[in-house]
Amino acid sequence: MQADRKRSRRMMSLSAFMYFDGNYNLAAWRRPEAYADAGLDIQRWIDCARILERGKLDMIFVADYTSPPGFDDVETMSQTARSIGFEPVTLLSALAMTTTRLGVAGTISTTWNEPYTVARMLASLDRLSGGRAGWNIVTGRNPDDAKNFSREDHMAHDDRYDRAEEFVDVVFGLWDTFEDDAFVIDRTSGHFFDPTKIHGLNHRGKHFAVRGPLGVPRPIQGHPVKVVAGDSEPGRQLGARVADVIFTSKGDIKAGQAFYSDMRRRIASFGRIPDHVKILPGVTIYLGDSRQEADEKYERLEALLPVPYAIRQLGILMGADLTGFPVDGPLPDLPTSKVRPGGFQKQIDHARRENLTLRQTALRACAAKSHFVIKGTVQDVADQMEDWFVNEAADGFNLLPPLIPGDLEDFVEKVLPELRRRGLFRNEYEGSTLREHLGLKRPPNALASRS
Ligand SMILES: Cc1cc2nc3c(=O)[nH]c(=O)nc-3n(C[C@H](O)[C@H](O)[C@H](O)COP(=O)(O)O)c2cc1C
Repeated sequence: MQADRKRSRRMMSLSAFMYFDGNYNLAAWRRPEAYADAGLDIQRWIDCARILERGKLDMIFVADYTSPPGFDDVETMSQTARSIGFEPVTLLSALAMTTTRLGVAGTISTTWNEPYTVARMLASLDRLSGGRAGWNIVTGRNPDDAKNFSREDHMAHDDRYDRAEEFVDVVFGLWDTFEDDAFVIDRTSGHFFDPTKIHGLNHRGKHFAVRGPLGVPRPIQGHPVKVVAGDSEPGRQLGARVADVIFTSKGDIKAGQAFYSDMRRRIASFGRIPDHVKILPGVTIYLGDSRQEADEKYERLEALLPVPYAIRQLGILMGADLTGFPVDGPLPDLPTSKVRPGGFQKQIDHARRENLTLRQTALRACAAKSHFVIKGTVQDVADQMEDWFVNEAADGFNLLPPLIPGDLEDFVEKVLPELRRRGLFRNEYEGSTLREHLGLKRPPNALASRS
């Protein structure tokens, strides 16, 4: 009875977002207490994944931008820990072997890959992790990528989404080319699999021609968990049509609520049930025993941020070249390029409204991009997370730890007990797959039901 009551209660979903060196704050690697070398040493990731699993988090999420930004200015580039990082699926495969319950999700771009390769990698990751894989579907916005994939320029924003829409349908189709119970391994009849339970995909579209079948069994989860973080019109539409989890960056609860209700409306317009999709805004937490201590933690890192790199990163977020403008002058008014992402306009508007300088805007962008920032005590953090959760701005959060491993440990050891005390987060895993952690259904096989 008590267990039933517990299960029927809505709980937060929690993911931890990490990439390159794992520290979300660009300057954190310079602090002596931080791991600086997670881009070189798998053990750092294993340590972090174990902390997250101890906290019973839903998943570790490895972001990816494929190519290191900034090679045309190596002096600036050399002042960050973001010139190296492990390829996500390789890394997640290792983490799957060193954890037992934690979901392992990562970014793979639809712009710089072929769907068959991606379907194969993720089906393999799902199987070897026992059903814990997730895919962050991105179109990629890093202008440096084009030069590593035989193109002069990045593909235009809407063309990338046009390709992504078809790309994901091919991947999902390939996952269904074997039925769940195809592998009879019948030594007597001599059938390894039942020949009635394999299907061709026979896809022919604008971008791809893929026959199938996929040479990996259907994933344990049916389909690995699909994550989308698009914010533009086509980005939101893709998320509404296919995502199980939606990531977003929203700086305050009002923006979070507007996004939450817009996405739920869009999800319903595709005939899907909004409650079957988890919307997880990012949050970067500076925790202190007092508010003053939390502020000092933030300022300590801000003082270490390399300004030229911060300005370059802001330029990528804005889709504009900001080099050469006075750093203590206003944010310049520039036409944005065709690769401009949709998510940063509010920060640009905010900078203009508050008369922030280029330096100030760039530093904020490097500490937290346009994500929600909480600086405060355990009570402050729990209050604000609860506020978003109960007031229709979030189904949980994507945690962006400013500094690892300390901020992950603090979250698990200090914040989680308070969220649990308030009945907002589970005490134990209740299933074994990532879909089960998130309370998501296993998708039926679309090809099996067709025959
Ligand atoms: C939490 C979060 C994680 C993201 N991770 C990645 C990533 O790993 N790689 C990437 O290229 N883009 C990533 N993005 C960018 C989004 O995929 C998307 O491009 C961005 O939100 C702008 O939306 P748009 O593509 O619809 O213009 C991420 C965005 C958010 C909010």
